[in-house]
Amino acid sequence: SITHVILTGGVGSRLWPLSRKSQPKQYLDLFDGKSLFEMTVERNRNVANKIMVVGNIDNCHLSRKVMEKSNTAYIDIIESTPRNTAAAIAFAAFASHPDDILIVTPSDHIIDEMENYEAAIQEAVEKASKGYIVTFGIVPTKPEIGYGYIERKGDDVISFREKPNQVTAKDFIAKGNFLWNSGMFCFKAGVFLDELQSFQPDVYEKSKIAWASNNNGTLDLQLSLEIPSISIDYAVMERSKKIKVVPSTFIWSDLGSFESVYEYLVSTGHSVDKNGNMVIGTDNYTAFVGLKNTIFVYTETANLILQKDSSQDVKNIYNQLEREN
Ligand code: GDD
Ligand code: MG
Repeated sequence: SITHVILTGGVGSRLWPLSRKSQPKQYLDLFDGKSLFEMTVERNRNVANKIMVVGNIDNCHLSRKVMEKSNTAYIDIIESTPRNTAAAIAFAAFASHPDDILIVTPSDHIIDEMENYEAAIQEAVEKASKGYIVTFGIVPTKPEIGYGYIERKGDDVISFREKPNQVTAKDFIAKGNFLWNSGMFCFKAGVFLDELQSFQPDVYEKSKIAWASNNNGTLDLQLSLEIPSISIDYAVMERSKKIKVVPSTFIWSDLGSFESVYEYLVSTGHSVDKNGNMVIGTDNYTAFVGLKNTIFVYTETANLILQKDSSQDVKNIYNQLEREN
């Protein structure tokens, strides 16, 4: 069977103050009254016959509300503390049959052009059933440092490079055979676990123990705290020899930072003044004097003023103000 695994434990720290600990960005009703989480569920309804939601105990009521509203059967995996994506995906794999194919997606991306999307998924499922770990590659439009890069030849992956610095990212773009990693993956549960066990045995063992202790899908806090916090990208993608890429042509944005939100909003007709300044979150007339490429974000309890090209640094504010551990 094919399972859609939805990762929803992230906090969207680079979108503070829109995204808050109590209301991460995937649950904001920003788009036609629907949240990114809800759109993710709908998008994959036709491509999988099971759904697993892996999320955090602090906001599992938010995913639950969406799933109940749409009357969708699913398996709920609730983390008592975030341990990053390698562990989150391992829990879903432990909860599956080793031959089950998992389509793992974030819950906080914008994707469009369903025909291309479904074709890419189908291609990935075919490769996954042959034992490959598949990533979805997006043709890059700029040297973004917030993404992982896939160096490829056809559908073969030469190397996987998570979040390069600016100089390296520019070099990748100039070389021409690098794609952005969309953060979506497809593989057999057993293949992923075997690779995790070879490359990151500590994460494999501790996740297995934590999963075995689950009570109705909720993981034990103390056992979870033992799991090293590392992303699937560093733990497996950078090291595995079994990776294939599906170069994808659907429209994709991870809306991860205000810079990508800005670009997305410009493409949908949101206004910017002649110096590239933008207001998000209020219809109040707002004037920018002597400023260029500035984003003003208004919320009821906190505001943010930032230079667009400092978008990656917003997470520092979030970490100072909202993080506990
Ligand atoms: N359940 C769970 N638990 N989910 C998590 C956790 C966790 O501890 N940590 C992160 N997630 C979820 C996030 O909510 C998001 O949906 C997804 O996993 C990816 O995590 P991010 O924190 O958003 O990763 P990223 O954006 O920095 O980088 C990844 O995505 C990029 C594309 O958006 C990488 O895969 C990059 O290579 C990729 O380019
Ligand atoms: Mg992200």
